[in-house]
Amino acid sequence: MRKSAKVSIHADRIRFPVNPSLYGLFFEEINHAGDGGLYAELIRNRSFEDTVVPDRCHVKECNLHTPAGWVSPFDDTDPIPGWFLQKPDDCLAEMMLDDSCPLNDKNPLSLKVEIGYLAEGRVSVCNTGFWGIPVRSGEKYHLSFYARKAADFQGPLEISLENASGSPHALGSATLTSSEWQKYELTLECGRDDPEAILAISARSSGTFWLELVSLIPENTFLHRKNGLRPDLVGMLQDLKPAFLRFPGGCFVEGFSVETAYRWKKTIGDIAERSSHWTLWHYRTTNGLGYHEYLQMAEDLGLDMMFVVNCGMTCQGRPGELVPMDELGEWVQDLLDAIEYANGPVTSYWGSIRAKNGHPEPFGLRYVEIGNENFGPEYNTRYRVFYDAVKEQYPEMIVIWNTHWEVGTETKGLPVEMVDEHFYADNDFYQQYHDMYDHYDRNGPRIYVGEYAMIVDNKCGTLLGALSEAAFMTGMERNQDIVVMSSYAPLLANIHHAVWNPSLIYFDGTRACGTPSYYVQKMFAENRGEFVVESLVETEGRKDELYGGLGIGIPDLDRVQDLVVSRNGETLLRLYRLSGSSSLCREFYNTLWIGDSTWRQYEASVKAALGEEGIRLRLLDRHQPWERQNYFLWELDPDGESRFVRIVGWSRVKLAPNRKVAVNQAEWQHMHVVIGEDTVQCFLNGMLVHEYRLTPIPYLFSVSTLDRTTNELIVKLVNPSPYSLDTNIDIHGAGNISIQGQQIVLTSDHPENTNTLERPTLVTPKVSAFRSDTGLYPVPPYAAVILRIKLKS
Ligand code: AHR
Repeated sequence: MRKSAKVSIHADRIRFPVNPSLYGLFFEEINHAGDGGLYAELIRNRSFEDTVVPDRCHVKECNLHTPAGWVSPFDDTDPIPGWFLQKPDDCLAEMMLDDSCPLNDKNPLSLKVEIGYLAEGRVSVCNTGFWGIPVRSGEKYHLSFYARKAADFQGPLEISLENASGSPHALGSATLTSSEWQKYELTLECGRDDPEAILAISARSSGTFWLELVSLIPENTFLHRKNGLRPDLVGMLQDLKPAFLRFPGGCFVEGFSVETAYRWKKTIGDIAERSSHWTLWHYRTTNGLGYHEYLQMAEDLGLDMMFVVNCGMTCQGRPGELVPMDELGEWVQDLLDAIEYANGPVTSYWGSIRAKNGHPEPFGLRYVEIGNENFGPEYNTRYRVFYDAVKEQYPEMIVIWNTHWEVGTETKGLPVEMVDEHFYADNDFYQQYHDMYDHYDRNGPRIYVGEYAMIVDNKCGTLLGALSEAAFMTGMERNQDIVVMSSYAPLLANIHHAVWNPSLIYFDGTRACGTPSYYVQKMFAENRGEFVVESLVETEGRKDELYGGLGIGIPDLDRVQDLVVSRNGETLLRLYRLSGSSSLCREFYNTLWIGDSTWRQYEASVKAALGEEGIRLRLLDRHQPWERQNYFLWELDPDGESRFVRIVGWSRVKLAPNRKVAVNQAEWQHMHVVIGEDTVQCFLNGMLVHEYRLTPIPYLFSVSTLDRTTNELIVKLVNPSPYSLDTNIDIHGAGNISIQGQQIVLTSDHPENTNTLERPTLVTPKVSAFRSDTGLYPVPPYAAVILRIKLKS
């Protein structure tokens, strides 16, 4: 089916220059993005600590229990994951973890191999890598390990990369010489391709020896750096034409306990001197991809650098732990030292360590983000301490506030130059609120959209998800005077441990593919132009609907009473107290769900006591678990600040201007909401404080930029609808009626189509020439199109 639309573009009306930093990368150690991914190390569990339980936690039935009560997977069925022992049937030999003689205090465990009796053949300790060790014919692999031996072990160690049946691809050997730890290094050259090779370290005589920090890194890393990165994945990142790198997380930075928080000082220097640590993404990181390597990667890719620091708070969703204020100094100093490491002269202490680690020149760290998704008064206090400390010593450093959740509320009175907003929501959210930044305060903080992705029901990223993000991105581009940076999240996922979907790039040991979202990011970043020009879209849309019951945070129940819900004069529900006695109330996820999630066009009134925290009333609550949550939220603070927002998934959008109303904390407030077919009104004590009208979700989204250097108009057109849109491209101020140039089109025959390792190019952009004498351009259904139109004048 076809529909029509119009895009009027004023090529001569420049709004502002494009922001060169708009598109960047957010790398987090999640989904084995680093270890078993971008970091080229091929040995899994190289220092034998993968099953070390973090301090103060315990493991029961394959679950880790944190001090704060968070439970997450922890497979301790195999004490030495990644490694197995191979021996003849009649041989007496075993391998075990040993803490009796650590290499150093960072690496408490080693592997003890005891061979009691061996008549013939070999005893091998074998590593299977991260779901196989991928090797290629003709390539070299640098193996290093530490070993020591007991007096009874005399023989050499045979070392091979081999296939599952023991047939070798590469051979080497090492003769152990000492009962003290010694480092052994050799280069293995492979004679065959094998995506799932194993490393075997074998002995043909009895005795005892120990291994520690066994590392195998291909020579062919990105730029041939030692301890480097996997080149094909770096290539995919480079193709995105990013401007900056945010690292290393995410919740990874926060941890679920103080011991699992990211501490950069443990991640620099010789890999044998680094501590590994358990992450909240259910695996242990080697920290081989450490602070220095992140800075190096950013420099090698020509990117601005953004370091996210733990601000003395762990992830509040898991739930959080707080570093007491009188112990915060050490954490603040860590940040100052991180800045000195990155930017200080070689004469400074940390600058000299950087030089020792191979980089005498400063890196040029530009941004620091204080925390990740932390919030509440505890965050505000800690933010202020970090902010002041950084600005005092490094006034040029751009300091970022770590959440969008409380923009314009808790940030009040605090110095905030940039905020990091995160969105994980469904298709409708990104399409419906594509214009949210049109309404942002131009005098407020600059916006960094640090994490966003269409997430619900979208296991690995579909075309429709990508188009919804593209719709939202047209809004970011139209507002890049204030939206100065953005990055999709997460960036990378190993298909064998994809704990968070979708990610932008999926890979295994040898292959990688970009999702449709990857191609949207690439198309948008490759086609920037120089100036945003005025443009207007006229399009039909689809009607969204207002429906859902009510919800209240359970701890507040005593402060809400006399709840009445009615429709057309008929009472649907009346509760004097909200004790959960009614069948229309259900407790779920610390929320009291009230009523029926299919309710439409109703009125609700309650009496609320504000107390010290104020009241948060959910309307139109679809009563879904958090990743699908969808409700409107009326927040009334004890000081009378009133806000009206919508929460979808892990996303929040402001629906109406904040208001300041007169309230008396000692009295009951009368809150009354009227929900029409497409309107919501909030009354406080009889006075209208917020009003919102739901508008149709447009079929077409667009933004236009001018490239004066090439004399082209770059028109982005996003159509997530099932209709072909005959779009009149009406260009003013450039003499064009007919239009011609280059078209870049991302579409596919089904909106749920995606790319896989087996079919990596199913949904990829196609580039061709186009011409339209009338200015009419048919935007295909389910498509993102970029037109590079040659201007006449
Ligand atoms: O991108 C995945 C996670 O989502 C990040 O770790 C966190 O910041 C957000 O909640």
